[in-house]
Amino acid sequence: MAYDEEGEAGRPEPPDGDDAAVQAQSQRRIRSAEQASASEEDEFRYHTGTIHADEAPDEIEFIDVHKSFGRNHVLRGLNMGLPAGKISMIIGPSGTGKSVCIKHIVGLLYPDEGDVIVQGHSVPSLRDADLFEMRKKFGVLFQDGALFGSLNLYDNVAFPLRQHTEKGEEEIAEVVNRRLREVGLADANEKMPNELSGGMRKRAGFARALVLEPDIVLFDEPDSGLDPVRTALLCELIKEVHAENGGCYVVITHDIMSARRVAEHISVLWKGRIVESGPAQDLFASENPFVRQFLSGQAAGPLGME
Ligand SMILES: Nc1ncnc2c1ncn2[C@@H]1O[C@H](COP(=O)(O)OP(=O)(O)OP(=O)(O)O)[C@@H](O)[C@H]1O
Ligand SMILES: [Mg+2]
Repeated sequence: MAYDEEGEAGRPEPPDGDDAAVQAQSQRRIRSAEQASASEEDEFRYHTGTIHADEAPDEIEFIDVHKSFGRNHVLRGLNMGLPAGKISMIIGPSGTGKSVCIKHIVGLLYPDEGDVIVQGHSVPSLRDADLFEMRKKFGVLFQDGALFGSLNLYDNVAFPLRQHTEKGEEEIAEVVNRRLREVGLADANEKMPNELSGGMRKRAGFARALVLEPDIVLFDEPDSGLDPVRTALLCELIKEVHAENGGCYVVITHDIMSARRVAEHISVLWKGRIVESGPAQDLFASENPFVRQFLSGQAAGPLGME
């Protein structure tokens, strides 16, 4: 643009001898503009955006979402659908915006552009009171279980019931004990969070996320900080509880083994956009070099240390 304007402004003709220099300079400018758009294209060359169809409708949808923190453009035109009734996984390298996605789903962050739709409602346009109602439909398991340090295990799990329902203590006890049994913590009722191991804290967080019988359960890295055996057990637990209760489960992980164990639907997120998404078996059979590298956990491939 700057080049065109200069050209049209009719600068005095340079003396003959400089003709070649001016031409060379303009060529350089054109080349650098081409390179800029080529590098953008290059950056997203693995982002085919291929969406393998899933038979279930989307419970959660990101539509052209952009989100920046200062100059850090994290979500860069994200289009992602998470199907109803399935266990979906969002996987991708560290710092790519996975946790930021979860925060958009529950309305803790708002998009700069685009929309986030949950069960047909635009989350960013909900009024506070409606957002509060909507949040009752979510069970969220944060990375460390996020238990209240001053409450014992029983009271932690009972907390959402006491806050959001009119249930009496007898009914609450029935729900809490059932959930604690389900996650194998029936005997740890009285324990304080700091007396629990990391794996126990996660299971307790899971129990608490389930007490309101949520339609949507969001797990942010349920497997981080757990040894491989406990990770496998937690994956089994997620599958069992899902089989029994149903609902839209969204699990964020970088653990490929966890993805193989529990994912029914996979979205591969990188640089703030979907590389490819669809039913797990389609993703594990993908020809995309980035998807293949990431799902096989190999060092060689498009993803390097950035
Ligand atoms: N509230 C915030 N304010 C400023 N920057 C933020 C905020 N939340 C996230 N970010 C930035 O957004 C980017 C994506 O962060 P996010 O936590 O979503 O990554 P992630 O994919 O979950 O990574 P990891 O796998 O390591 O958990 C990071 O560069 C992070 O620094
Ligand atoms: Mg994260």
